[in-house]
Amino acid sequence: MKILIVGNGGRENAIARSIFESDSFKKSNSELFCTVGNPGLDKICKPVNIKPTEIQELLEFAINEKIDFTVVGPEIPLSLGIADEFRKRGLKIFGPDKCAAEIESSKIFAKNLMQKYRIPTAKFREFSSGNIKEACEYLLCSKYPVVIKADGLAAGKGVIIANNFSEAKEVLTDLTENKIFGDSGLNFIIEEFLTGFELSLFVITDGTDYVALPFSQDHKKIGEGDTGKNTGGMGAYAPADIMINSDLHEKIMLEIIEPTLHGMKKEGRKYKGCLYCGLMISEFEHGVLVPYVIEFNARFGDPETQAVLPLIKSDFLELLIASEEETIRNYKLETFDKYACCVILASGGYPDKYETNKVINGLDINERDVFVFHSGTKYSEDGTGILTNGGRVLSVVALDGTSMNNAINRCYYTAGKIHFDKMYLRKDIGFKYSEKKIK
Ligand code: AMP
Ligand code: GLY
Repeated sequence: MKILIVGNGGRENAIARSIFESDSFKKSNSELFCTVGNPGLDKICKPVNIKPTEIQELLEFAINEKIDFTVVGPEIPLSLGIADEFRKRGLKIFGPDKCAAEIESSKIFAKNLMQKYRIPTAKFREFSSGNIKEACEYLLCSKYPVVIKADGLAAGKGVIIANNFSEAKEVLTDLTENKIFGDSGLNFIIEEFLTGFELSLFVITDGTDYVALPFSQDHKKIGEGDTGKNTGGMGAYAPADIMINSDLHEKIMLEIIEPTLHGMKKEGRKYKGCLYCGLMISEFEHGVLVPYVIEFNARFGDPETQAVLPLIKSDFLELLIASEEETIRNYKLETFDKYACCVILASGGYPDKYETNKVINGLDINERDVFVFHSGTKYSEDGTGILTNGGRVLSVVALDGTSMNNAINRCYYTAGKIHFDKMYLRKDIGFKYSEKKIK
């Protein structure tokens, strides 16, 4: 079997490893290809020098190289319709069609879907650059903080929390006059600020049936204790099951996942692939936990994927293929009885300005259940060393069969062996898990 992975970050490294380790892959004398490979992927994937956004070139490559199955990592190729193009030509691919990927690429579409199918989410109103006056009137009567979200894709930066009216007005100016997110911010929503704790859930679906992977928790803020600027994610752990009880689990499946898949199908946008559900769990009186959808993404999350996928014991490649072939109902998910922690090693200064081309030392780690997935890395010019090449540089992942605390400690122990100039990492990944345990 020939498999092509589109994308080349930490998430795609983790996807590649899980495919590579699948029995169905090993059995069939298979080959893995990955777009614009990086030093982490090169050991198991043949690099393909095509960008994830060059859909026609990828299509040609897949046809010429007789690729059997393509797996799409990032959202942009999905929002550009890569899955539609591949399927039109009879090629098998993992990921939703363009109209289904709108669940991520248009926040307004996603919110209206949730409203129509009564899926719990923050109360909201939609506005555009054409009705700023109404938006301001709405903001004058709003309870603060409010959340303002650009409708379109904005590289994970399109959500802004405003603490008062004047901050909120500035955000509207940035979106519609300064166009900080280009056309993505000309339409926007204003929504109620929810409180609670966040969880991430990946659901692998063929549009009708689904398999829910272990819950995980991301750490989006740059600073310890969830402070400072939002980032792409500074670390994650899984399973986050200790954070939920069976009642909440059932609510999430019956009141969120199932109506979403049903709604998408009814709207003529049958959803195939990985549905990423970003949840806020609010705690009400008497300890009642209520889940709300913060966002949907049309893909796996980064860095949650790096923590979740190593926990999957059953054949991962078969799961992805079952999504495309619409046979999910026959798939039995098995997971390891282990705990996983992922810590991101970032360039100092990220998510603002940072330097690159720093030599990375200590990468020769060869331990069972420890993985170092590459994101922003590249080979040095003479090919002998590995250099930093981005904000988020590496994902260090460790598993442990006894406790989450041991997984966390093992992860930090490994991270301590790696070094590059101005390396930054959050030192408290998993802190909410530990707090929960102490209670
Ligand atoms: P998103 O890009 O939609 O995941 O939003 C980024 C982050 O903003 C989320 O992870 C939340 O921490 C926060 N956020 C988004 N929407 C809300 C909301 N309605 N209430 C509170 N926090 C929110
Ligand atoms: N970890 C957040 C995301 O992938 O969107």
